[in-house]
Order: sequence, then C-alpha cells, then structure tokens
Amino acid sequence: MITTLCIAGYRSLRDIRLELDPINIVTGPNGSGKSSLYRSLRLLADVANGNIIRSLALEGGVQSVLWAGSLAYTAAMKRGAQRVVSGQQKKPVSLKLGFAMEDFGYAIDLGYPIAAGTSMFNYDPHIKTESLWYGQVLRQRNEIAYRNGPMVKVRDAHHTWQVVLSNLATFDSMMTHASAPTDARELLMVREAMRDWRFYDHFRSDRDSGARRPQIGTHTPVLDSDGHNLAAAVRTIIEIGDIAAFSTALDDAFPGASVDIREDGGYFELYMTQAGLFRPLRAAELSDGTLRYLLLIAALLSPRPPALMVLNEPEMSLHPDLLPALGRLIAASSKRSQIIVVSHAPELVAAIESAAQAKRIELYKEDGETLIADRDEPPWEWPSR
Ligand SMILES: Nc1ncnc2c1ncn2[C@@H]1O[C@H](COP(=O)(O)OP(=O)(O)OP(=O)(O)O)[C@@H](O)[C@H]1O
Ligand SMILES: [Mg+2]
Repeated sequence: MITTLCIAGYRSLRDIRLELDPINIVTGPNGSGKSSLYRSLRLLADVANGNIIRSLALEGGVQSVLWAGSLAYTAAMKRGAQRVVSGQQKKPVSLKLGFAMEDFGYAIDLGYPIAAGTSMFNYDPHIKTESLWYGQVLRQRNEIAYRNGPMVKVRDAHHTWQVVLSNLATFDSMMTHASAPTDARELLMVREAMRDWRFYDHFRSDRDSGARRPQIGTHTPVLDSDGHNLAAAVRTIIEIGDIAAFSTALDDAFPGASVDIREDGGYFELYMTQAGLFRPLRAAELSDGTLRYLLLIAALLSPRPPALMVLNEPEMSLHPDLLPALGRLIAASSKRSQIIVVSHAPELVAAIESAAQAKRIELYKEDGETLIADRDEPPWEWPSR
C-alpha cells in the first residue's frame, strides 16, 4: 500500500504531500488539480515501465508541465500554510515525484536538458537524481540506492556504497537499468510493485469501441485500459473469479439483469438480459452508461487484483441513480486493492463514504496553486541534486 505521495513542480501541484489510506477519494472543483494528481501517479508508474520521458513529451515536455508560478513566494506561504523556500531561486527547474510504501520509498527529480551541441532531443527532460530508501522518510542512513546524473550507487551487504553504473543515460531510470537480482534486489522489488499499479481512465463506449464487438477470447484476469477485452474478462471472472461478487454487483446496479458470454469460433461476445425484454441485448446494443458500468465491474472484480487501483472519474456518463451501487462496488473491491478514486460527483463521493471508511482529499486552488483542505502533511525529504 502507498502510504505517502509527494509531488513538486508538476503543473499546479507546486508542492503536495499526501498521506494515503486504503480508500482515497480525490475531489475538488474544476481546475483544482485532480487530473494532475492522477497523471502524476501515472508518471511514477511510467518510471517503472521505462516510459517517463515519452509520457512527459506527449504532455508537451518539461517546459509545459513544470509549475509555471513562482517558487519563492506564494499565497499559501503568505498565510503560513506552506513552507517558505529559502534562497534566491525563483524559477522552477525541477519536477519531483515520490512515494513511500510501508517498507520502501522512492523519489525521482527531473529537470531541463543542458543544451547539448548537436542533439535534436532538446525537449527531452533529464533525470537528475533518484533515490530508494527503507522506511517512510529518506535519511542518509536508510538510503539503499542513489542516482546522481549518470552515476548509480547501491549499498552492498556490508552497508558500503558501490558504484554499479557510471554511464546511465539522462533518459533512463535506475529502476529499469540498475536493478539486478544481485545488486540491490530492492530496486527490482519496488519496480515490480510500481508496475503492478493499475489505472482506469475513461473507457471507450462509442459505436466502434472494442467492448461492443466480438473479440478473440483468451483468459483475461486483467481488463485492458480501453476495455476492448470485456467479454473475455467477464468470462474469466465467471470461470475462475468471484462469481458471487459479480452477481451481487450486477444485481445491485441492474436488478433482475444477467450477463452471459457466447463463444463462436474463438470469438467472445457479451449479452445482457434485462428485466422486461424478450431477448438478451448484445454489447453493441447496450447504452453507453450500461456498457461503462459493466466495464467497471469487470475492472474492479479482476481475479488478479493489483496492489493499487486508480480510477479517474468513473462516474463519467453514469446516471446519478447508478452511483450508490458504484460506491458499494468500489468499497467491496477495496478489500483486495488499495483504491484511489478521482471524482467530481458528490453522489459518488457520498456513496463510497457511506459504504466504507474512506479518506477524502479535497483539492482547491489559490493563486494558481493546488492546495489540500486538510493540512496534515506527512514528513518527507527529497533527494538532493
Ligand atoms: N505548468 C503549469 N503550471 C501551473 N498550473 C498549470 C500548469 N499546467 C496546467 N496548469 C493548471 O493546473 C490546473 C489543474 O488542472 P487539472 O486538469 O488537474 O484540474 P482538474 O481538477 O482535473 O479539473 P477538471 O475538474 O476541470 O477536470 C488547471 O487550472 C491548469 O490551468
Ligand atoms: Mg480533470
């Protein structure tokens, strides 16, 4: 479980430090920073998957995503609600992402490229420092691995620092390039934990979406992020998953309905029988909201639950009448995974809160900067450059 999440210099998240619970609901008005918080978690997962530089480039490059305000003086500092940054530096140069789990912490610091003669990759951010440590807060004595520019040092069994790489590229992370079963197995363990995080953001439900058409079916314990393998995922739940939880979730949202999967020449198609209809409807005939709800059930009742499941605005195109059932479904799946839900539907927030003990993370914006209503900040130290 992630216990602490810290982001600095990313869009409106100038300096955010959060404590996380088993179920977390991120909410707040338009433009308060919810999607930025969601994306910063995805960026951390991208580090472990080796995609961070490309993901940042697709967002417009470090020039676009770096906090565009001042570092030296903010409204929150004026009120005494935020730490005052000492020194003369006013222009942000650093995007930092970090988290701690129960036993390990990791942080990465990215910045501007240093103008490099003939290179065309002048928009690629550079990874400046990375650190991996035992426990919640980075200290000198509990650091396990450290990256500074091209050099990676790892502590050996005798607690002595060993240089394991001296030529790491600015666009590669030590998590993907310095982890080996022999040196710092912890790098490998934490990387695998990060790769296991699962994100669901706006399923496709348009006429051409894969979920509406028959698809080649193979065992699918994890629904794809675009939902195209819905029929195979539902069939996998029916065969090897929690079929009782599936029936309960379906009946809670659509009383009296049932779902079955038909197979033809290896192609799987989903059918739904609803109260009052003489024939079952094919996935292609279902409403957007109904299809999205089935996708959410398949995602949340995965027979291979991840350590962390992050849902971005799952209420999209669902009628408010369905949100209490969705709240109960999310609460039920929190028994298997840590959950972070980003939502601006008060009905969904209320539904999750009445079904389970959830932490509400209420964001608001002041002078362009995202702040958190609850000011209890966990202790945190960034690795120094
Ligand atoms: N580089 C930047 N520096 C500072 N602020 C930025 C930067 N880039 C974007 N922003 C601002 O960050 C804010 C947060 O955007 P975000 O998309 O996270 O909001 P949101 O809470 O998801 O809103 P909505 O409910 O409308 O989806 C926006 O107001 C945007 O203008
Ligand atoms: Mg948003």
